[in-house]
Amino acid sequence: MSHNPNQPRLFERATEFPDPDAQDRLARLVGMDDKIHTLANLLGVLVNPEGLRKWQQKHHADAGPLVDSVIRRPPLVVLSGDVGSGKTELAETIGDRVARQQKIPVTLMPLSLASRGKGMVGEMTQLVSSAFEQALSVAEKLKSERGVARGAVILLVDEADALAQSRETDQMHHEDKAGVNAFIRGIDRLANSGVPAAVIMCTNRLHALDPAVRRRAAEIMVFSRPTTEQRLSLFTRNLAGLQFSKSELTALVQATGETTKRDHGFSYSDITQRLLPAAVLEAYPDAPIRAARVIEMAQSMQPTPVYQAR
Ligand SMILES: Nc1ncnc2c1ncn2[C@@H]1O[C@H](COP(=O)(O)OP(=O)(O)OP(=O)(O)O)[C@@H](O)[C@H]1O
Ligand SMILES: [Mg+2]
Repeated sequence: MSHNPNQPRLFERATEFPDPDAQDRLARLVGMDDKIHTLANLLGVLVNPEGLRKWQQKHHADAGPLVDSVIRRPPLVVLSGDVGSGKTELAETIGDRVARQQKIPVTLMPLSLASRGKGMVGEMTQLVSSAFEQALSVAEKLKSERGVARGAVILLVDEADALAQSRETDQMHHEDKAGVNAFIRGIDRLANSGVPAAVIMCTNRLHALDPAVRRRAAEIMVFSRPTTEQRLSLFTRNLAGLQFSKSELTALVQATGETTKRDHGFSYSDITQRLLPAAVLEAYPDAPIRAARVIEMAQSMQPTPVYQAR
């Protein structure tokens, strides 16, 4: 995508799927099979409504209106929930699954809210409106009158807390309210134009989600910390090749769970981005990793606090 240096950068680097790196990252996610299935189907139907029509004619020949209600849904999915629970990871990689299933190229356009307006009137609105404008124009070229689209676009709005907030909250800045309005208009435009494009929004603040945004979401997925089984599977995968015994793995799972002193365990990222790298770097370069030491480290490490609404 060309970039005018006089304008704030709208999108971070776009990713084109299929992409082997995204495929790997998606395969590494634990406990997400249902979410992956739902999301891939939802995006797949947007890209290829004809496929759903054929399915309907085969299985429910008289159920046209039912299928219409699926096809006409606004193309918005909200991924919400705790920090470090895989929202961004899933949003950035799901396009690979869709591309492979539908056998078409999928483009991920990640909107950079980091470069969002510094509160100057009109900036946020401008940013959101141009993002939808660009996604729409890319997707329009991919639309096909009948059958499968030639490609699809996923507009990713990550860290969308400002946009997720309810316009009714008093603390909300005027400019942010205008941003939410622009977002809602954008979703409606995408829905009405019937182009192969969908929006994935990630936020920690589901409770503050604007009712008008919530109403439009085809799906609201809630992400949480790993359960006991999910931690076991995370450790088993990530420590493959280290020959930890079953009881050592169990001890690790326990040390990273809830305790009498705290009502929450480790997040996914506490394990993959803090505990395990710390264990590697402590052992490196002179000694191998010892299970007993990793368990100790887990016991003395504090998990990230659960995301609290301010
Ligand atoms: N389900 C999972 N299985 C395996 N690893 C995971 C999972 N979820 C998250 N992780 C790990 O945690 C890291 C952080 O996840 P991610 O950035 O997706 O969190 P997030 O939900 O977007 O958090 P935040 O709300 O802070 O943005 C990932 O890079 C990955 O290593
Ligand atoms: Mg994130």
